[in-house]
Amino acid sequence: MALTSFLLNEPLDMHLHLRDGDMLKLVGPLTSNTFSGALIMPNLVPPITTKEALLYYKQRIKEACKGDAFEAYVTLFFKNDYTYEFLEDIKNDIIGIKLYPAGITTNSETGVSSMDVEVLRPTLETMSKLGIPLCVHGETNGFVMDREKEFMPIYESLAIAFPNLKIIMEHITTKDAIELLDKYDNLYATVTLHHLLITLDDVAGGMLAPHLFCKPIAKRPEDRTALLNAALKAHPKLMFGSDSAPHPKHKKECCGCAAGVFTSPIALQVLVELFEKYDSLDNLNDFVSNNAKKIYGLNIKDKTIKLV
Ligand code: NCD
Ligand code: ZN
Repeated sequence: MALTSFLLNEPLDMHLHLRDGDMLKLVGPLTSNTFSGALIMPNLVPPITTKEALLYYKQRIKEACKGDAFEAYVTLFFKNDYTYEFLEDIKNDIIGIKLYPAGITTNSETGVSSMDVEVLRPTLETMSKLGIPLCVHGETNGFVMDREKEFMPIYESLAIAFPNLKIIMEHITTKDAIELLDKYDNLYATVTLHHLLITLDDVAGGMLAPHLFCKPIAKRPEDRTALLNAALKAHPKLMFGSDSAPHPKHKKECCGCAAGVFTSPIALQVLVELFEKYDSLDNLNDFVSNNAKKIYGLNIKDKTIKLV
């Protein structure tokens, strides 16, 4: 018999772009009406790098999400010159710090120019001491299909150099990243809905599909299979993170399309369909909630969503 309804407890979106201004007002409620909480990306213009900007952004998110029972877990944009005092002071206001290699994706121009462990050491040691997780956009500036794969040795050197630092490989798209998860205790990952569904063929194999264009770009069928298998079994180190990244229509449907796939309004519905299709609904609560609660140590209020 076909499924008619399904209950989800405290769904969490552990990688989300809520933007600002009118866009925030528009997209914020599309997540907060169903999700219990979300990890919010700091790549605004300018990025979130101060306590004042962070607390004010959190306030604007709260206003945009009106009365919804929703926790915005905000992040700080990684800079190499944060002092111990600054990070100690901001620690309780953030869930983690997001590191972008400079220029690798939307609004990341002021990211780090070197991924050398020794260059990053002072800040990462401080984060490790203070127990602040590191979220990473893991792509090199190599050939677009190989950027994530080429980043794997960097993840390995970070995992080895900072064994007590929780490192989250954001929006993984490859079989290589799935394999790396089991190699180091302190490596975790998020995966998007679209990377469980599409490959490069859907983006550029036929007529160009700008709304499916994102960073990292969708990869090969075997990569999608590896991601899907890990998600369907709710691999304990893998969390759902939609990477829903809205852009104005004129920035998607144009010459020089912005990177980002906007999925927040349909994310949970499509996840239920997908997990039902593969007879894995029993694992969905772990994938969209329990894994993230354990990894980040979250304690959130009850919120049950009934999808009909
Ligand atoms: C994101 C955005 O638009 O902010 N774009 C994307 O293609 N995923 C940034 C990011 O997460 O890389
Ligand atoms: Zn993102």
